[in-house]
Amino acid sequence: MKIVLARDYQHLSRLGASLVTRAIKQKPNLVLGLATGETPLGLYQELVKLYRQGNLDFSRVVTFNLDEYYGLPPDDPHSYHYYMETNFFKHVNLRRENVHLPPGRPENVVAACAAYEAAIAAAGGIDLQILGIGQNGHIGFNEPGAALNATTHLVDLAPETILANARFFSCVEEVPRRAISMGIGTIMKARRILLLASGEDKALAVAQALEGPVTTRVPASLLQLHPCVTVILDRAAAGQLNGKTNREEEPVCC
Ligand code: GLP
Repeated sequence: MKIVLARDYQHLSRLGASLVTRAIKQKPNLVLGLATGETPLGLYQELVKLYRQGNLDFSRVVTFNLDEYYGLPPDDPHSYHYYMETNFFKHVNLRRENVHLPPGRPENVVAACAAYEAAIAAAGGIDLQILGIGQNGHIGFNEPGAALNATTHLVDLAPETILANARFFSCVEEVPRRAISMGIGTIMKARRILLLASGEDKALAVAQALEGPVTTRVPASLLQLHPCVTVILDRAAAGQLNGKTNREEEPVCC
């Protein structure tokens, strides 16, 4: 695991974008796993900037998002479909047929989850998966206690996740109670992982994930078992690390 300390959120976003850019330049048909939430917004802005400057071409890139709220249609402003569309997809030259998100309102959940896994496999597997981290250590929507080998599935959100994500809705009652998420098994199969964390409210989860025991109680701690993870943290998110972990200045990846 490579841990990179960024000066601040903007620096973190730039470092993340440069890692993604390098991966796309090395493999123009990169299969890129995408995350939502507040943390990767700066990364998406940087990628859009690089695309507009003519430094990045998404025409052959294939994307798979981690998760979607269960029950929300794609045009709901709270859905992750809408988030991706407004913050990233409509600003770059990704081809529509190359963009994938779990459906929020599938007729048959089990079949839709199996189809999502099959689509990832058909694309050749995820080359680079971008992740954020929840305050309780969740990745995607894999909450504490999630099965290690789970693939894409319907999950019940933890009460603390519902509360944390209420800031995106007008009230906590509006936050969906369930989501469809890639499982830990899906995430761990990605060839490379880029985890981003920013802010003091992530510091405990980051310390537990990077330096604590590997346990399903902190889903992100399972990343310690992955052979190629780069973690980019700003100072606040790194605030509770004990200092023993090696840190680097630049996000080289395996
Ligand atoms: C949600 C998403 C996660 C994300 C997490 C943290 O629960 N499902 O993928 O990492 O929130 O979000 P934020 O970056 O807004 O703190």
